[in-house]
Amino acid sequence: MAEPSLAVRRKSRPGSVSKRSRAPVQPSAVCSPVARKRMSSGGEGPPAETPCSNESEEDMFGDHDSFYGNDSLLAEVDDIEKKYLQDKNTNIKVAGEIIIGNQSGIHQKKQDHFSNSENMVVFKADKEDAFQMNDNDPVDSNQELTESTLDDLPSSQLLYFEKMGELSSGSRTSPVSERRNKCVNFSLDKIRSPSFCPDTEHRNRPTDFSSDSKCDLFKTESLKDHLKSAMTGNAKAQTLQVSKTKQLKEAVLSEEICVARKTIESSSVDIGPFYGLPSKVKDLFRQFRGIETLYEWQHDCLMLESLQQRKNLIYSLPTSGGKTLVAEIIILQELLCRQKDVLMILPYVAIVQEKVRGLSSFGIELDFLVEEYAGSKGRFPPIKRRIKKSLYIATIEKGHALVNSLIETERIDDLGLVVVDELHMLGEGSRGATLEITLAKILYTSKNTQIIGMSATLNNVGDLQKFLQAEYYTNNFRPVELKEYVKIRDSIYAVDSKTENGFTFSRLLNFKYSSNLEKADPDHIIALVTEVIPKYSCLIFCPTKKNCENVASMLCKYLKKEFRAHREKEKQDLIKNLENIGNGSVCPILKQTIPFGIAYHHSGLTNDERKSIEEAYSTGVLCLLACTATLAAGVNLPARRVILRAPYVANDFLKKNQYKQMIGRAGRAGIDSAGESILIVQEKDKHLVQDLVNSPLENCYSSLLLELTKGMQSLLLSLVGLKIAVTHEEVNNFMCSTLLGIQQQLLSKEKSLTEIIKDGLENLIEKGLLKGRICEKDHNSKCTLTITPLGKATYKGSIDLAYCNLLYRDLKKGLEGLILESNLHLLYLATPYDMTSNYSPDWMIYLKQNVDSAVVNRLYLSFVLYTLLKETNIWSVSEKFNMSRGYVQNLLNSAASFASCVLHFSEELEEFWVYKALLTELTKKLTYCVKAELTPLMEVAGVLEARAKQLYNAGYKTLAHLANANPETLVKMIEHLSRRQAKQIVSSAKMLLSEKAEALQEEVEELLKVPTDIPGTC
Ligand SMILES: Nc1ncnc2c1ncn2[C@@H]1O[C@H](COP(=O)(O)OP(=O)(O)OP(=O)(O)O)[C@@H](O)[C@H]1O
Ligand SMILES: [Mg+2]
Repeated sequence: MAEPSLAVRRKSRPGSVSKRSRAPVQPSAVCSPVARKRMSSGGEGPPAETPCSNESEEDMFGDHDSFYGNDSLLAEVDDIEKKYLQDKNTNIKVAGEIIIGNQSGIHQKKQDHFSNSENMVVFKADKEDAFQMNDNDPVDSNQELTESTLDDLPSSQLLYFEKMGELSSGSRTSPVSERRNKCVNFSLDKIRSPSFCPDTEHRNRPTDFSSDSKCDLFKTESLKDHLKSAMTGNAKAQTLQVSKTKQLKEAVLSEEICVARKTIESSSVDIGPFYGLPSKVKDLFRQFRGIETLYEWQHDCLMLESLQQRKNLIYSLPTSGGKTLVAEIIILQELLCRQKDVLMILPYVAIVQEKVRGLSSFGIELDFLVEEYAGSKGRFPPIKRRIKKSLYIATIEKGHALVNSLIETERIDDLGLVVVDELHMLGEGSRGATLEITLAKILYTSKNTQIIGMSATLNNVGDLQKFLQAEYYTNNFRPVELKEYVKIRDSIYAVDSKTENGFTFSRLLNFKYSSNLEKADPDHIIALVTEVIPKYSCLIFCPTKKNCENVASMLCKYLKKEFRAHREKEKQDLIKNLENIGNGSVCPILKQTIPFGIAYHHSGLTNDERKSIEEAYSTGVLCLLACTATLAAGVNLPARRVILRAPYVANDFLKKNQYKQMIGRAGRAGIDSAGESILIVQEKDKHLVQDLVNSPLENCYSSLLLELTKGMQSLLLSLVGLKIAVTHEEVNNFMCSTLLGIQQQLLSKEKSLTEIIKDGLENLIEKGLLKGRICEKDHNSKCTLTITPLGKATYKGSIDLAYCNLLYRDLKKGLEGLILESNLHLLYLATPYDMTSNYSPDWMIYLKQNVDSAVVNRLYLSFVLYTLLKETNIWSVSEKFNMSRGYVQNLLNSAASFASCVLHFSEELEEFWVYKALLTELTKKLTYCVKAELTPLMEVAGVLEARAKQLYNAGYKTLAHLANANPETLVKMIEHLSRRQAKQIVSSAKMLLSEKAEALQEEVEELLKVPTDIPGTC
């Protein structure tokens, strides 16, 4: 199943109820920026497919999906254009009117369209509202542009209207021009400024407005240009005050990139100013990351001959070794010098969002796009960009879907590089299987895509090297020394692999416990933590969630009162902040522990709470977190000391990989100057722990067989579906190159790989997902297999094969009597199947009857979702249903992901066309589940509900507001917002805005392209 997550592209903005936002419907006209300004809709706008109904500035770049699916807008652009071209005498002012008027035409049309679809109630309200507005506030579409209207306009649109004005009045300078000279000049400069290499194709793109013939402005080419430049200008409008120095710097950067690109192309030994990259990149690492020089190993690794030759590479270094920086430099080389797109795969949604935030500022400075693929965010296939290159940052699941879509559209070669962080995840269950499938497909279909994998915990590197056809680099470097200890009774032993039993006595723990305290804290956790806190920070990994809470509570019961004094005010602020997040409620345990600088951290917290707690811990307001393994991998939090409460995760004894990842959180470079770990061991576990610390890391094995429906079967299905391999023989060939193929003798002793494949294919045929015959004899192994529509829907929707038939039946049944009075029925269909098996509703009446518990469980969970959408308050819903708020949050995230999967599933089956419209909207509702006005802000990576509320209340109401915000002002206006966070929010917003503008631009370009095969033309 898709990973829990947040977010699809944003939906229509609700309306600011402003009256100016309504305009009478004008037939036959085109959306213009001005019209949008005037007519931003009120109320909960129609669904995303109606770009022109979202008339506000940020909606210019509204939902990608919506614009993409909206042929009507551009069809009408086309019509208008044709009409215009027929009438050569049409004057410029009329052209302007046409453009203004049609906006509302489309608006009306779309509303009508949706009156037949799911959002009846919303639509009615919208329409009534619209009529009211029309009565009360008629807006004449022909009215002249007033100064106040112009005040709000982005510079690019001003430029457009100024050009209109100039043309209509000969050489006369328009008032608009006078008032906005500065912006306009800037826009022109920006549009004209060469980007990167002067010899690239885009330099010659027709973006220059100083055309020789002014009449040309309204030929097909130039209307296209206007739309393009209007949107480009909008995206760039945030940097109105551009200085000469800045322009000069940009020119230098372009030049340097150009040299770097040429250097790389000529594969000369000269590595350019900074590993083939412009020296600006080095400055950016200094500025954004505080990195002055590279570690020696980082330099050596980047200079590897294999890397220069673009060979695949696996590199392995201890935790906190600085692996990310090397990957980032290689990524930038690919984006800037080789001009190819890059996919970066990270293990969790939160880490993806963190990375998007962190790299957006690089994207803005260096002119590439950063696109988020996590949860329900991401577009398949991605938009084909002609100029800027894209860095896709994805979770494992979304990375797989992205690669599928690129293979399907024959664009996989656009992907120059794939970077996989935490490569050891290949061995971890269904996610490992998905990662293996993704990499195997890339290796098989694109010989030019380079693969880089990194990890701190690899053992059987040989297998992985074979699988990835990769070179290997390793080093033991860790910038901050990590000292490992175990504690048995009151003695601390250093882990020492040179001694026989693996430990050497280090010291006795120094503490004086009363008998009461000894009972409450038999493992002496208080003694261990008070050696470091509050001056330094400490993480305690606990086996269970409950245990985290208990440890946190126990600690503050016995800690001295002095601990309360440390950063008292900030801790009170944190509690207040949590209260706001919980709409007045705050967890009683946190309320009790935070004054001592202590909190628990596990999946039972909401995303917002987790983020606040992490931030408070990072800045030292909290000095101790009692956490589960959720904080173990890849995170950069300060910890002088990491304590492992017990060598268990839930009931399972700790694995070496887990142990290494957990202790690796101590002593992070740049944050701590020292680090140590202490594993608390009971006498009975002593021998097991000796084995643990002395044993090598676990091997990484293919999960394709263990995870049958999400692994092997899913792979076979998509191989045929994507036409990567369509005969038994081809499938065999493919499978030999997987990690399973390499480890087959180890993993399946009874059956050969060929037999496994044969069984798998037969099973898919039986399930009705594939068609064709699998024959025993070799000479028949060339029979072609084809995918059925259900099979295609299943792999396109990333639906677990265990549920695809059930999902089909449920959707089919839904068609017979879909109840759309509320969204409950739809929610039922979007409730993830895999969440129903591990939940038993507290619902005695139904359980006493002999009903299908799977159905009842699903229905119960859909009630929870239904209440959530109504109340948009996780706290009250969790109380009402007696579930933990973390579980409710997880349910919501999973449902958003699953809804988008079901949407893609339905898109492939004609009979389910109606679900497309219904589920698009539902997915958005589930993704954000907040008051509609907050959704534009929550689209920005890492802005969660609480932050969005703060920003909204402070007047930052749209994406454009955020993109143009001054970080310093943000810090002053928003409580608990650090300068670094403010900068990241602004950068992410800028990146998103620019990405949306680019997307629209590409769409327009594509749609207005004159086909080369028009009948009757040669
Ligand atoms: N050359 C450098 N100089 C100073 N600090 C550095 C350098 N390289 C990396 N760092 C810092 O070291 C810290 C750890 O780096 P990073 O997150 O890349 O570790 P990692 O090897 O990925 O560890 P893990 O396996 O735990 O994820 C980061 O804060 C990073 O900014
Ligand atoms: Mg890392």
